[in-house]
Amino acid sequence: MSPNSSQSFSQSILAWFDKHGRKNLPWQIAKTPYTVWVSEIMLQQTQVKTVIPYYKRFMERFPDVLSLANAPQDEVLHLWTGLGYYARARNLQKAAQVIRDKHQGKFPEILEQVVALPGIGRSTAGAILSLACQQNHSILDGNVKRVLARYFSIDGWPGNKKVETELWQYADKLTPTIRTGDYTQAMMDMGATLCTRSKPKCDDCPVQTSCLAYIQGRQTELPHKKPKKAIPVKSTFMLIPMWQKQVLVYKRPPSGLWGGLWGFYEIDTIDKVVDFTTRMDLGKVQKQNLEAFRHTFSHFHLDIQPVVLHLKQQPTSRIMEDSQIWFDLTQPQNLGLAAPTKKLFSTIGASF
Ligand code: ADE
Ligand code: SF4
Repeated sequence: MSPNSSQSFSQSILAWFDKHGRKNLPWQIAKTPYTVWVSEIMLQQTQVKTVIPYYKRFMERFPDVLSLANAPQDEVLHLWTGLGYYARARNLQKAAQVIRDKHQGKFPEILEQVVALPGIGRSTAGAILSLACQQNHSILDGNVKRVLARYFSIDGWPGNKKVETELWQYADKLTPTIRTGDYTQAMMDMGATLCTRSKPKCDDCPVQTSCLAYIQGRQTELPHKKPKKAIPVKSTFMLIPMWQKQVLVYKRPPSGLWGGLWGFYEIDTIDKVVDFTTRMDLGKVQKQNLEAFRHTFSHFHLDIQPVVLHLKQQPTSRIMEDSQIWFDLTQPQNLGLAAPTKKLFSTIGASF
């Protein structure tokens, strides 16, 4: 690829952006590294139209780095409830605390320092600094990988290290030194609206005539998918001790599955329920199975059998620790809830 052709690529992309790019999304108005950062993290694995209301609520509650750094983790996770991939929220707050403690509360504007923050990789750092600070860095998120893998007709799965390295070389070569931020946004928009995973709109594409995948008719084949591994199925019983309209939940350890979120206690075999009621001093209970359901994570399926344990007497207070509460279903509090917990709250709330 000659320097000339990379220039004509970016010029075509920018001309398309001027006409068709998205310029009025909430995080594009009064852009700062903070607003771009939060939106980029939310937009990882989540679509624009889902993100918008979450983004607005988040910004209202945490208008700047310091308010985020100083907030209780529960509040951050609460505003994330439903978005999934909660490590994103935990890292967002951890990074805000690093910025508070190591960068005098000001978002760093040096690529290496941005990459060093928890939860920010090279592409996200490049996006923040090009979109918010007009710096000259390239990006390679999922959208851009798809566009480039097609444009250069690159075989292999883009998550593969070797393929990824090759894509970064193309990304670096194509990214223009002027209007880098607009180009970054343009490539994201291209991938999201034109060069989509299925049925790309090649007839509206500004680089159609030089796109190798288009020329070869391989647009829907590329990029190649990740080699599939069958994901395992695990199972669990979720125990729901219930007294009047209250259920017992606990705060899960900070890392691991649903880290830092509130959820029900679990056992792997049902005979452990006696153990549990004894340990929690719940007295005699009446068991009731609710309908089982499956929750799928990226790396396994979890079959969940919820079991309500109706208490026969008021629970004793001595079991209470900081990390557990009787949650009043009639007066829900603002807690970060794991998706199945939230689902079960509404099932239980509606049926008892
Ligand atoms: N996906 C990831 N980042 C995005 C952005 N800034 N605008 C639109 N879609 C995106
Ligand atoms: Fe993507 Fe089609 Fe444009 Fe090629 S021509 S970059 S496949 S939209």
